Amino acid sequence: SNTGLFAGQKVVVTAGPTREAVDPVRFISNRSSGKMGFALAEAFAAEGAKVVLVSGPVNMATPAGVQRVDVVSALQMHEAVFDHLPGTDVFAGCAAVADYRPGNPQQQKIKKAEQQLELTLVKNPDILAEVAALDDGPFTLGFAAETRKLAENARIKLVRKSVDMIAANLVGENRGFDMEGNALLVLWSDGETELPMQSKKSLARELIQVVAEQQVRK
Ligand code: C5P
Repeated sequence: SNTGLFAGQKVVVTAGPTREAVDPVRFISNRSSGKMGFALAEAFAAEGAKVVLVSGPVNMATPAGVQRVDVVSALQMHEAVFDHLPGTDVFAGCAAVADYRPGNPQQQKIKKAEQQLELTLVKNPDILAEVAALDDGPFTLGFAAETRKLAENARIKLVRKSVDMIAANLVGENRGFDMEGNALLVLWSDGETELPMQSKKSLARELIQVVAEQQVRK
């Protein structure tokens, strides 16, 4: 497409949860549905961007015109993102990447035996922070799901990961994960705006307008 707000731009979006293997039949994961990431990918594509959607395991149809890359674990997501990063103008890290993975995933199913089983977890790479740390990297949009002190925690995340923009939402008590609608507080270095409760598809369309406005200032 040669029309639209993001015409001629390449956008990489991550979405959904990751699964971290404990053994061949078990994993650690989270409640992310992928809805927000898929809505974002669809919105960017509708505005003319070439979109690569790197998705963890979700039950979602691929939006029209979007190139989808399916992954399972955080390490696979990290690799897929960096494979597709060259030439990227905007990176939107919407995935709920598992912060930790079992350090020593078992090749055989773990048998129940002792009363206590210890699992050692090791830290996964922070994909968003790594992309944000690149020289001449893309404009970076991150998400922050917080259960409290939304603005304060989100601004800390903006600085700590040195991303260009954070979209923050409150989670817990029927909010956020796996819900149709949401509200976002969007922050950047010298400003912020609130996007009121609405469907994730509609939120995504409003959010990419804010991205476009701030992107020109980068
Ligand atoms: O620090 P926290 O996990 O709350 O940050 C959330 C943001 O960072 C999201 O944009 C998420 O996609 C991204 N992230 C990531 N890689 C990780 C952890 C989080 O890209 N390992």
